[in-house]
Parts: sequence; structure tokens; C-alpha cells
Amino acid sequence: MDIEKRYFQTKDELYEAVYDTAAAMLRETDDACAALANVSALLMLFLPDVSWAGFYLLKRGRLVLGPFQGKPAVAEIALGRGVCGTAAAERRTQIVADVSACANHIACDASSASEIVVPLMDGGALFGVIDIDSRKKARFDEEDAAGLARLAALLCEKLL
Ligand code: SME
Repeated sequence: MDIEKRYFQTKDELYEAVYDTAAAMLRETDDACAALANVSALLMLFLPDVSWAGFYLLKRGRLVLGPFQGKPAVAEIALGRGVCGTAAAERRTQIVADVSACANHIACDASSASEIVVPLMDGGALFGVIDIDSRKKARFDEEDAAGLARLAALLCEKLL
């Protein structure tokens, strides 16, 4: 699959392209590791101003680092800890505009300024989270949350 970096006029357009490309990727494999590795690369390629994009997957009651793009990151996160653990424990998307003002944030990269974490849910069951970081403050908003929630639903439907 040869995918070039692309630029979009609106977030609607961007997330439509992310969804359609991820759906094509998921038609190629039902292996979760392969699919999530490609989707993390897709997020890095299409989303502007992103420094880290990837997955933490629920294993033995903890979030364990999954496929990602970016700097090395914390390998395991307890539920309730950090932005990822909070999203997982509350089963709710977390948007942090300024990570330096968030006491519960786990810093993997000192230059990270804002973050969004979206739970991967199948009905009531938690599968993991999508985690995306930016070096720009307030990079993420409700449109990102909606676009990523739609992607999360697709991933859960195809990979669970
Ligand atoms: N900042 C996250 C930890 C993971 S890194 O951002 C990749 C958190 O607070 O849970």
C-alpha cells in the first residue's frame, strides 16, 4: 500500500480519509498487530502537528504499549494512571490542552504539549486506547475526538 502524506482543508475531510484508508488496511489483514501498526503510521502521516500516535492495549488488567510511531514510550500503564489510564478507567475520551498543567499526565517526551486519548470499546468491554500527542498546545478538539471515536469503532468491529 503506497500512501503519500496528504493535506486536508477540514477535519471532516481528514477523518473521512483516515477512516477510508484504515478500512482498506483492515481488509488486508485481520491480525491486530499488523493492522494497528499500519493505522499508527497512517495517523502520523495524515494528522498535522502530531509527535506520537499509537495504541495501548489492555492485557492482564494493565495498558501495555502496542504499535506506535514516535519516540520510545512508557511500556505499561495501570488503569487510572496518566491520561491513558484515566481514559481507560473512565471509558471516556480525554482531551488535555496543556499537559504541563495536568497533574496526572505521564511524560514520555518532554516536548509534548497536548494529548488526546480515545478508548477502544466494544460495547462495554475495553480493548485499549488510541493515544496521540502533539508539541502544540490545545492541538485537539471535539472534532478530533469524534473522528477518532469513529476510527476506534471500526478497529474494534474488525479486530475484536
Ligand atoms: N502521556 C501518556 C503516556 C503515554 S505517552 O504520551 C506515549 C499518559 O499520560 O498516559
